[in-house]
Amino acid sequence: SNKNKNAKLVLLGDVGAGKSSLVLRFVKGQFIEFQESTIGAAFFSQTVSVNDESVKFEIWDTAGQERYHSLAPMYYRGAAAAIIVYDLTNPASFTRAKKWVQELQAQGNANTIMALAGNKADMLEARKVTEEEAKTYAQENGLFFMETSAKTALNVNDIFYEIAKKLVQA
Ligand code: GTP
Ligand code: MG
Repeated sequence: SNKNKNAKLVLLGDVGAGKSSLVLRFVKGQFIEFQESTIGAAFFSQTVSVNDESVKFEIWDTAGQERYHSLAPMYYRGAAAAIIVYDLTNPASFTRAKKWVQELQAQGNANTIMALAGNKADMLEARKVTEEEAKTYAQENGLFFMETSAKTALNVNDIFYEIAKKLVQA
């Protein structure tokens, strides 16, 4: 079997949900309080080991601004995995996340592993989307779900590791 896999992974979600921050945390172990809004898309790579196998993620961090929406298919087409990110303090970003799920279900590769990330889990006092609501939605739509924080690193490596495990099993 092939012990070294390459896997295209795309992050999708509303402006300000924290896509770039999650990638920066995962790839560089850093967090920036005033992360700039992404223009177009940005590319990163990072390798994760699962037992004696490795998955090299080729990560496309897309721009959430609506003017870039038409570019998105270039990044999700053929993707092995997608992380759809919302900000759990912002209900509109959860609505936007569901729209991305619908678009991927309609246009994407049926085999794409989809993860839902409820980000900014360090801001629980400002929470507007309950864990239960998101978990139920994720179960009904075949996604796996985690609440994350790019700021504290909560569940950031974990969400990529869960995806890597599923890719290795596939
Ligand atoms: P676009 O590139 O515009 O689509 O946004 P994005 O989804 O890449 O969001 P970005 O990573 O730029 O984060 C937006 C803002 O939220 C930045 O000021 C980040 O510092 C902040 N932020 C991101 N993740 C977290 C988090 O987990 N907790 C907190 N408290 N702030 C976060
Ligand atoms: Mg960004």
